[in-house]
Amino acid sequence: METDFLVIGSGIAGLTYALKVAEACPQKKVTILTKTQSDETNTKYAQGGIAGVMDFDHDSFQKHIDDTLIAGDGLCNKQIVEIVIKEGVSRINEIIEWGARFDKEPDGDYKLGKEGGHSEFRILHHKDITGKEIERALLEAINLKPNIHLLNHCFVLDIITQHHLGYLITKSTTDVECYGVYVLNLATNKTEKIISKITLLATGGNGQVYRSTTNPAIATGDGVAMVYRAKGRIENMEFIQFHPTALYETGIRGQCFLITEAVRGDGGILRNHAGEAFMELYDERKDLAPRDIVARAIDNEMKIAGTENVFLDCRHFSKEKFVEHFPNIYEKCLSIGIDITTNLIPVAPAAHYSCGGIKTDEHGRTSVKNLYAAGECASTGLHGANRLASNSLLEAMVFAHRAFKDSISKIDSIQNGSITAGIGDWKTDGTNAPKEMILITQSVKELKLLMSDYVGIVRNNERLHRAMKRLDLLFEETEALYQKTIVSPQLCELRNMITVAYLIVKCAQFRQESRGLHFNTDYPNKLTRIQNIVQ
Ligand code: FAD
Ligand code: SIN
Repeated sequence: METDFLVIGSGIAGLTYALKVAEACPQKKVTILTKTQSDETNTKYAQGGIAGVMDFDHDSFQKHIDDTLIAGDGLCNKQIVEIVIKEGVSRINEIIEWGARFDKEPDGDYKLGKEGGHSEFRILHHKDITGKEIERALLEAINLKPNIHLLNHCFVLDIITQHHLGYLITKSTTDVECYGVYVLNLATNKTEKIISKITLLATGGNGQVYRSTTNPAIATGDGVAMVYRAKGRIENMEFIQFHPTALYETGIRGQCFLITEAVRGDGGILRNHAGEAFMELYDERKDLAPRDIVARAIDNEMKIAGTENVFLDCRHFSKEKFVEHFPNIYEKCLSIGIDITTNLIPVAPAAHYSCGGIKTDEHGRTSVKNLYAAGECASTGLHGANRLASNSLLEAMVFAHRAFKDSISKIDSIQNGSITAGIGDWKTDGTNAPKEMILITQSVKELKLLMSDYVGIVRNNERLHRAMKRLDLLFEETEALYQKTIVSPQLCELRNMITVAYLIVKCAQFRQESRGLHFNTDYPNKLTRIQNIVQ
């Protein structure tokens, strides 16, 4: 198959880009690939909303910029922060034009929420299911575009570069070029090649590398792993954001239900097992301190008490107001026997967001020619060492737009037909059907366990060293299996997760300090920001 624009991923970043290129170039073919159902994305699960300066009477670009920089703990790229926050408002208005509905006050103004690290109320939301509403609106708009082809159940295996033409590519090769991708079509079980002029990676996050995560099963870091294999640049992988308040359900691991930070924005209070509101011991912003601080404080309280959770107290809320803003959370809690008006909600931190990823410039260009990245898989410089809540959906839209602008200025100059004619089919020589799935499932379990226990919220050099040794073994065993086995999503996801875990640990080892989300007790130079650390 050949296409002009190839988009990998059907979350907010991929769909926004696809809509824009399809609209600007109605004669060109746009193909979107997604590995399961089109709406099964991190985007669909977003709760709190999109941060944007909408109320200029109380808020300003400068305040949102300052909040982003403070959360980022000295590592944000200031130019990118300004771009995202200033251009974000136009992108929010576009998504509203495409049909996304955000909650309004009776006077017609948008209802604005507040989350950790924000100095003002600036979060647009659709109750507590903002992402579902965005995904719905974007997919409906996509359906109206005749030049967009959305293909579900197409698992992208690798991006095609000069490597697939027989050239040696190393880390110092400067002109790596993308010609498309190899895909496992799960409807036919065949591997196919798709040749494209321009490719956008919008493959989302990697929370599945950890045992407990707010991310759905699709979040296995495939885009990052593919770019790393293609010798593209990846950065800041140590900055994994743990959301402080995933619902704690005994025995439940994997994807955890989120209790949005907006609940704390509306007055929810964290309490430990002794019933104490502990956040004031850690930070003067209390329950609305940035996420890295709140998640570490909870981790510390759990270690002091020897428990697996703390609690979120909403008993003082008016039931009517809670249900109006958070109907989904109310129902979910009730379904497991928790009435938020009388019971505390058990919560614990869970892996939530990858601040690092595929390095891009201010146009979403990666270090690989004709390959762009946007959304959670990209590292644009916005988040630095810790993402400010609800800045992710905003960043995805801004960079999808910037990548679109750059792509359409280039598309007609890309004539790679003579090169791509030499690209071979996916090689299957010497591979057989997998004999035992246990060889994959057990390795996935080991990977999640070692990442959670050794490379979680609090790290140290010895734990990182041990994690790397165990990853080496998993890598060796999985590569051997990969060489002799017909590819499957399970095997490829394991391989990708091992690569991502390796990158997280490697970056964590490089960073010989504690900063933002990376807290290493061997470099406690930021310890003054919290008290009572248990190592
Ligand atoms: P995604 O929406 O995750 O989409 C990824 C796509 O890539 C999917 O379609 C997937 O199938 C596809 N894909 C991946 N690998 C492959 C492959 N190998 N082959 C083919 N397709 C592939 N952010 C906010 O700003 N505000 C919030 O309120 C908020 N709440 C959140 C709540 C939860 C529970 C979670 C998990 C995240 C939340 N976030 C929030 C973060 C935000 O939702 C995500 O960062 C954002 O939606 C990512 O969008 P994306 O387009 O980059 O990727
Ligand atoms: C939340 O609603 O708490 C998540 C917001 C985010 O991750 O930005």
